[in-house]
Amino acid sequence: MQVKVDVQNHWEKIYSEKESTMLSWYQEVPDSSMNWINQLELNPNANILDVGGGDSRLVDKLTSKGFKQVTVLDLSAKALEKARKRLGHTALNVKWLAQNILDYKPSENVDFWHDRAAFHFLRESGEIQQYKDLAAAAIRPGGYLLVATFSDQGPLKCSGLEVSRYGEADLEALFADHFEVIGHQREIHNTPFDSHQEFLFMLLRRKKRD
Ligand SMILES: C[S@@+](CC[C@H](N)C(=O)[O-])C[C@H]1O[C@@H](n2cnc3c(N)ncnc32)[C@H](O)[C@@H]1O
Repeated sequence: MQVKVDVQNHWEKIYSEKESTMLSWYQEVPDSSMNWINQLELNPNANILDVGGGDSRLVDKLTSKGFKQVTVLDLSAKALEKARKRLGHTALNVKWLAQNILDYKPSENVDFWHDRAAFHFLRESGEIQQYKDLAAAAIRPGGYLLVATFSDQGPLKCSGLEVSRYGEADLEALFADHFEVIGHQREIHNTPFDSHQEFLFMLLRRKKRD
């Protein structure tokens, strides 16, 4: 589909032309995500999927904490190449998927699905529904989804693209068919250019019965 290709080119261009440390969403240490993850006391063999992980340092943290089944999925092959290079030998223990999340075909149950600033790029109701269905099908009953989007007080655009912004009630209602809310937190992200963006992190658990 033409639209998908254009979006993919957008991301390839961003990661090819800019240093990751100069991207607005860059975090030297993904503390907020790790704080949620640490609370869950996941098994080292937990199947973890970072959706739209890009060149994020989350995979560095997860592998250094001993997680053995980490997958990073992103539209941009260039972003994944950068992350792989940084990780060196450790990258061999990670599964890398260069694809659109909407085309994801899970081969096994996910215990922990992480998405910081990828889901909010979906703006059409059909695509948002597709993402929710995918997450519900992929995450095992009792497994977790941590989603971080721009909040309703956050910017209208990210990386030059319009985003969907969410409040707590919006996100909870959106995922309510298959997930229950465990917790949520707003967070101000300081960009490398000293501007501020309000994120909403929400941790959800896959219901055992729909
Ligand atoms: C704002 S960046 C966030 C990167 C990373 N999660 C972080 O927190 O540093 C958004 C990422 O999502 C990826 N992305 C956007 N739409 C996507 C989609 N439909 N499927 C997979 N990845 C996507 C982009 O390539 C980009 O790497």
